[in-house]
Amino acid sequence: RDVLSVASECAPLVKTGGLADVVGALPSALAAHEVRVRTLLPGYPAVMTALGSTSGTLCEEEELFGGPARILAGEVAGLDLLVLDAPHLFAREGSIYLGPDGADWSDNAERFAALSWMAARIGGGCLPGWTPQVIHAHDWQAALVADHLAMQGVTGIGTVLTIHNIAFQGLFEAHRLEDLRLDPARYHSEGFEYWGKVSALKAGLTACDRLTTVSPGYANELMRPEFGMGLDGVMRARRAELTGILNGIDEAVWNPAEDSLIPAPYKRPRGKAANKAALQAEFGLPEAEGPLCIVVSRLTEQKGLDLLVEALPVLLERGGQLALLGTGNRDLEATLTEWAETQANVAVQIGYDEALSHRMMAGADAILVPSRFEPCGLTQLYGLRYGTLPVVALTGGLADTVINASPAALSKPVATGLQFWPADAEALKNALARLCNLYSSPSTFRQLQKNAMAQPVGWNSSAAAYARLYDEVSPA
Ligand code: ADP
Ligand code: GLC
Repeated sequence: RDVLSVASECAPLVKTGGLADVVGALPSALAAHEVRVRTLLPGYPAVMTALGSTSGTLCEEEELFGGPARILAGEVAGLDLLVLDAPHLFAREGSIYLGPDGADWSDNAERFAALSWMAARIGGGCLPGWTPQVIHAHDWQAALVADHLAMQGVTGIGTVLTIHNIAFQGLFEAHRLEDLRLDPARYHSEGFEYWGKVSALKAGLTACDRLTTVSPGYANELMRPEFGMGLDGVMRARRAELTGILNGIDEAVWNPAEDSLIPAPYKRPRGKAANKAALQAEFGLPEAEGPLCIVVSRLTEQKGLDLLVEALPVLLERGGQLALLGTGNRDLEATLTEWAETQANVAVQIGYDEALSHRMMAGADAILVPSRFEPCGLTQLYGLRYGTLPVVALTGGLADTVINASPAALSKPVATGLQFWPADAEALKNALARLCNLYSSPSTFRQLQKNAMAQPVGWNSSAAAYARLYDEVSPA
């Protein structure tokens, strides 16, 4: 099989969240299933630099939403990359989605329509010697691809759209429809019209052959009004074509036994002690009675960290500690920083730091993920692998990946973490109290850590599921 994966980010080249990790990890996971994946990315400065001068031009377009463009190819970090070089759209410093004022780039519609358009061109055979049988689009930034295939008259190619987060929908003014090279005949409630606007995500949801999301739990939630963000009806209508395929993690990058980014690599939970001491020293935290908890997260409404602020006293009263790494909402950053300034057992690092996130996973006792919704979530998976117990809200992928330390699960013993619901401060307080109780029984806690480290979190079975899906949608 030959698959073109299309996305707006891809680790290790360009990343704002878990989407990049997944897009970056899937190709090598799928190689084991005889699927060749080439990944099409926008030519942001970081991607162009990584590509270097070794690349050759494979396909040119004279006029792509306001300027010339071409497709370059190259091998970078083990990835078979196709890069959309279109300086008028992507040669900008700073965030890939936001301008210097913190608002979306005003031409995001054109920028990502261009990505879909060129993906469709590749589907139509514009690259010499290689045409995919399947195009796999990720999130709204690639979701116009099925419409663009139709506009270009390309048939005989399968399309899969993966929803990483339905909160991001790519909404644009309806009058831009034709500029985005869309068919006005699809501007209706069963097409890409959404409350008087064009929804790029809805375009893909209504036109792609198959839909997936990143956990079975979130697939079910998406069909319900509480989680569907206005698109639950569309999801219900396409129930038969929707599957949840759980994300894995890159087990080579996240491997406590061989992680060169941590002070003392380890194979067993007791090996965490040296990493914990180093982490406490790094964050200026004292030794403590209770568990050292970490958070590594975007600071947004989704992640529920305002709940943590409310619940924090329970952890601190029990001698627990918090070390948080994150960036996002300015008010939340300020509140958390204030806690760190006034509480000896709270430390906060505002920013984005991949290496530090490894040291935190290695050194902590627990990782807190109190999300209001979570399509899959990756940090709880890193936590499992590093014997850092996840304390998570019972939602989406968090519900699918953590085995709650219920009395039954403790007796087996199969528990790997703690879950709480609803996602509110009271339930989180209870979970933190339970965590402290478990922590005060070292043998129980050690057993939980062993269970966690033994839980499979790799790509194996999920890569197989994607490979089967590609088979199903491939033209005969
Ligand atoms: P989401 O994609 O919704 O942000 P995920 O848990 O799927 O949530 O993925 C987040 C990814 O981004 C993980 O790889 C996590 O380690 C990383 N990450 C988030 N915030 C930071 C940060 N401040 N520093 C380093 N890594 C971070
Ligand atoms: C999104 C979701 C997150 C998921 C990631 C990768 O960013 O918020 O839950 O893990 O995509 O699929």
